[in-house]
Amino acid sequence: MSSRTFRGDGHLGYKPWPMRLGSLCVFVLFVASVAYAQTTFVGAKRCQTCHAWEYQVWAKGPHAAARQSLTAEQLKDGKCNSCHTMVPSELEEQKFAGVQCESCHGGGRYYSPTYVMKDRELARAVGLIDATAEQCQRCHNDTSPSIKPFDFATMWAKIDHGRAAREAAAKQAAQEQHGDGQATAGR
Ligand code: HEC
Ligand code: HEC
Ligand code: HEC
Ligand code: HEC
Repeated sequence: MSSRTFRGDGHLGYKPWPMRLGSLCVFVLFVASVAYAQTTFVGAKRCQTCHAWEYQVWAKGPHAAARQSLTAEQLKDGKCNSCHTMVPSELEEQKFAGVQCESCHGGGRYYSPTYVMKDRELARAVGLIDATAEQCQRCHNDTSPSIKPFDFATMWAKIDHGRAAREAAAKQAAQEQHGDGQATAGR
């Protein structure tokens, strides 16, 4: 499956295939990306309604804040904003700011309804992307002025939607359900 589509080496052009919108959107020309955003991105807040945990972890992480690393001037510069914010537009800046869910998972307009999300195949057929190292390296590549060596396992571990914490919480919830009287109050 891993067609080598992304390397950052000159992918600022079009790839007008709806299935690839996720990969497309970060790198298309400014105007085109705004137009697509209005039709395919729904914004992280929408994902939050069903994926509260992932949202909460993301919101505290580096990607949610990526837009803030740029000055107002850099934000207007396609050489900077293409990786630092999902939709470089004054108009949409709040809703689509930073590296969002859909920067990795693809534009969610068609896959975010519940009945689609529950159907793994359908969701992928209408745009859900399984984020892999390739997906990361659309941005974590040496066209970035401040790139550090990118190792997927190491880097993913830093932002993995809080997997360890979630597993611990689930374990504790299960224990409390078994009524071992240890339930720590106050949370
Ligand atoms: C209306 C509720 C809802 C919304 C909105 C929603 N999802 Fe989902 N999502 C689900 C459900 C239900 C599943 C099925 C798996 C599960 O039960 O957790 C799922 C699964 C997923 C999966 C895992 C897919 C798999 O098969 O491994 C990803 C990734 C995902 N959603 C990303 C997103 C993103 C990104 C957004 C926003 C663009 C989003 N979702 C919006 C309900 C939703
Ligand atoms: C190809 C994608 C890409 C482009 C284009 C890009 N950046 Fe970045 N930027 C990144 C990534 C990825 C990181 C995180 C660095 C890392 O961990 O490797 C980053 C980090 C940063 C940081 C955080 C400081 C640091 O060193 O950790 C600043 C500030 C920054 N970029 C500014 C800019 C500016 C200014 C431009 C335009 C000249 C720009 N970036 C263009 C991807 C990009
Ligand atoms: C930097 C890229 C990136 C961003 C941003 C991102 N994800 Fe993910 N997400 C991934 C990767 C990679 C996986 C696959 C994990 C695996 O294979 O185990 C994943 C897995 C998931 C899953 C499957 C279950 C899980 O939690 O592991 C859901 C649901 C999900 N993401 C939702 C979201 C939502 C909602 C957002 C925004 C709030 C988001 N993601 C932001 C990369 C990202
Ligand atoms: C749309 C572009 C984009 C994509 C896709 C992307 N990143 Fe990032 N990432 C960035 C930018 C920009 C920053 C710098 C944020 C800032 O301004 O500090 C960053 C920062 C990070 C950081 C924190 C910096 C550090 O060195 O610790 C980690 C970890 C990270 N990314 C991991 C990933 C992983 C893993 C994936 C793929 C699952 C991924 N990223 C996909 C743009 C992206």
